Amino acid sequence: MKIRKVLVAGGAGYIGTHTCVELLAEGFEVVCADNFNNSSPTAMDRVEQITGVKIPTHEVDFCDLTQVEELFAKEEIDAAIHFAGHKAVGESVEMPLMYYENNLLSMINLCKVMGRTGRKNVVFSSSATVYGFSDKLPLDEDTPTSAYNPYGRTKLYIEEILKDLHHAENDWNVSILRYFNPVGAHPSGLIGENPAGIPNNLMPYIAQVAVGRLEKLRVFGNDYDTPDGTGVRDFIHVVDLAKGHVAALRKLEEEPGYIVHNIGTGNGCSVLEMIKAFEEINGVSVPYEIVARRPGDVGTNYASTDKAEKELGWKAQFGLEEMVRDTWNWQSKNPNGYE
Ligand code: WQD
Repeated sequence: MKIRKVLVAGGAGYIGTHTCVELLAEGFEVVCADNFNNSSPTAMDRVEQITGVKIPTHEVDFCDLTQVEELFAKEEIDAAIHFAGHKAVGESVEMPLMYYENNLLSMINLCKVMGRTGRKNVVFSSSATVYGFSDKLPLDEDTPTSAYNPYGRTKLYIEEILKDLHHAENDWNVSILRYFNPVGAHPSGLIGENPAGIPNNLMPYIAQVAVGRLEKLRVFGNDYDTPDGTGVRDFIHVVDLAKGHVAALRKLEEEPGYIVHNIGTGNGCSVLEMIKAFEEINGVSVPYEIVARRPGDVGTNYASTDKAEKELGWKAQFGLEEMVRDTWNWQSKNPNGYE
């Protein structure tokens, strides 16, 4: 099977834009669709600056079936990558219905319409959050799954929906990618993470403190059972992550089926190590204070990357240095994001 044209649903977002760049670099034709609910059309202009290609971009709300049907009537799509989800854990606890409706319905609508076209190839952005509170490390793909907040449950339920779909109609080809902690930006500094409001995640928070938008970072707990007491995560450069999607599509072309892979580096880095690397490599200061643990956080979390390496032939190339350098390059050149 040959995949030519790829739909990137949620293509104007942080991971979507980086994936558009890597897909073009690998010779795929790309179509972007986004409702710009949490992203900016400017991001697609930046993708054009990087690649020299103007990606056809459609304003589509994937929760509206008619809009998805209209999109597929206009574009002959061979495969889709689904990034069109809400992603803030805290918000999902406060607004569970919004999360279930948006994240599940957007995927269901996409699959409904793709099923009718007969081009049944989909890559789904899942998350390491589906491993719940497992303390078996490194986390491999066979670790039992569970979820402890509505956001995590949407990821888990969509995985299950896609598994059922493949079971019912085995001409559905599904790649589930379980991301660890995506950070960094394209080395051009033209695209990067642009969270709305106060960032929830560590790296954009550090970057906004360094650029002077926020006063200081709060480090959530230094009494974990880790070398320096702060949380340990598997941070992965967004360009490596984007390349993981290309590898997944290639794998589906060669060997159709239902596949699940971790996308991480296999290395743990603590919060304090990240702050130190950011300061030293970028020559900036990131003031912080230690505060209480954040409810729902685990101490340590990192991936087993063997399966992705073996089956997808994909392995992260970038380390901590590139992660902090490229984050700062993006943040310092775009202190207010795409505004
Ligand atoms: C990393 C470490 C914090 C912010 C979450 C979701 C997950 C996925 C990615 C997303 C932890 C510490 C953080 C701060 C801090 N979902 N921290 N001060 O929690 O591993 O994963 O984001 O789209 O589902 O759960 O990532 O970046 O929030 O935290 O000390 O201001 O940094 O306690 O140890 P997390 P994170």
